[in-house]
Amino acid sequence: MDNQVVIFDHPLISHKISILRDVNTGSKQFRELVEEIAMLMGYEALRDLPTEYVEVKTPITTTKSKMITGKKVAIVPILRAGLGMVEGILALIPTAKVGHIGLYRDEETLEPQEYYCKLPNDIANSIVIILDPMLATGGSAVAAVDFLKARGCKNIKFMSLIAAPEGIKKLTSSHPDIQLYCGCIDEKLNENGYIVPGLGDAGDRIFGTK
Ligand code: PRP
Ligand code: URA
Repeated sequence: MDNQVVIFDHPLISHKISILRDVNTGSKQFRELVEEIAMLMGYEALRDLPTEYVEVKTPITTTKSKMITGKKVAIVPILRAGLGMVEGILALIPTAKVGHIGLYRDEETLEPQEYYCKLPNDIANSIVIILDPMLATGGSAVAAVDFLKARGCKNIKFMSLIAAPEGIKKLTSSHPDIQLYCGCIDEKLNENGYIVPGLGDAGDRIFGTK
């Protein structure tokens, strides 16, 4: 896998994903874990934020010390399940703006259907991080990146907790210029387009709708 895709091989993330997978994990713990994993992944995804030296007066002396500068960060959860990751990233960048893209998969065709899109006005000049726990066929992810590019976004990252090889292939081939961060790669999709072994339906598990 080239460096367009970062796969997290970290004990904290692997451990938390294993609890997410467990069919006996309830919605409260599931939500907490999704937020925590997003924060851990965000630490790496934000590694290339631009910084500048500013002068700081410490109790001992005056020094030049780095602070984040320049480009703004926008986070864009794909509704519904992406909402579960928002607070984890906001804990790292409280000033980030939040846009929303509403997509659901048609259960027959697995094609993404749009039902909502509200993005910050100045998003074109931001570093944009799309959030969705599941990258399955890749249809929803590709549609979300299409929207953002149509709004002029150039610096786009996509973060998912669990990805299928099929989704990674589709997203990287459709959009070779975006950076992907995946908590892990699973084996395959089943005949219904669900990730195997996966964790089931992320939206239903976050919001307790099944
Ligand atoms: C899930 C998930 C992704 C999409 C992934 O959402 O959160 O958005 O499926 O599948 P894909 O890669 O094949 O497009 P879903 O459509 O179930 O909507 P929901 O979050 O509202 O439940
Ligand atoms: N969406 C989910 O929530 N889970 C999957 O496994 C695939 C798509």
